[in-house]
Amino acid sequence: MSNPTLLTISGSLRKGSFNRMLLNKAQAAFGPANVLEADLDLPLYNGDLEEAEGVPQAVKTLAQQVRDADAVVISSPEYNKGITGVLKNALDWISRVEGMPFKDKPTVIMSANAGRTGGETGQFMLLSCLAPLQAHVLPGQMLCVAAAGKQFDDTGALTNDLYGKVVETRMEALRAAVT
Ligand SMILES: Cc1cc2nc3c(=O)[nH]c(=O)nc-3n(C[C@H](O)[C@H](O)[C@H](O)COP(=O)(O)O)c2cc1C
Repeated sequence: MSNPTLLTISGSLRKGSFNRMLLNKAQAAFGPANVLEADLDLPLYNGDLEEAEGVPQAVKTLAQQVRDADAVVISSPEYNKGITGVLKNALDWISRVEGMPFKDKPTVIMSANAGRTGGETGQFMLLSCLAPLQAHVLPGQMLCVAAAGKQFDDTGALTNDLYGKVVETRMEALRAAVT
């Protein structure tokens, strides 16, 4: 069988994002794959814009990436104990696209945050937001990387073996769900 397609979604847009670093580790742990990287730098959802111009091309591209993916991994920081605005905005746009791209899509979620709970509260909100999209979020140990600034080296590699082991376990389960 050919390699599965893995879509990585970072809930943080910034280049030096710890969640992007965590996604790099997740991608490596998933194994050989055709990797797609989502870009959540989208217009803000606005019903007037949608009515006047339809769904923006960047959203159509993202929705197609979700459709094309065999598996999805989302890593997002929590902002003020909720998911980031860009991630919520992206999920809202995706919900406006025909055909429910996320329906039954094997998905693993994780987070990296400065705080000591590692984004746990934000993950509960993310679970709620994925429910109406009918994503198939895999059960398993929550991966909430706390004190994120101390867990990656200068090259962006995850240095904490305990977190690393959880990433591997979660991504092995995701791969098993699609192969
Ligand atoms: C608007 C905002 C809200 C934040 N809220 C939280 C929070 O609720 N919990 C937390 O642990 N860290 C919080 N932080 C700090 C983030 O965890 C930290 O900036 C982290 O590096 C963001 O992830 P990133 O590196 O992937 O961009 C917040 C940061 C910002 C900018």
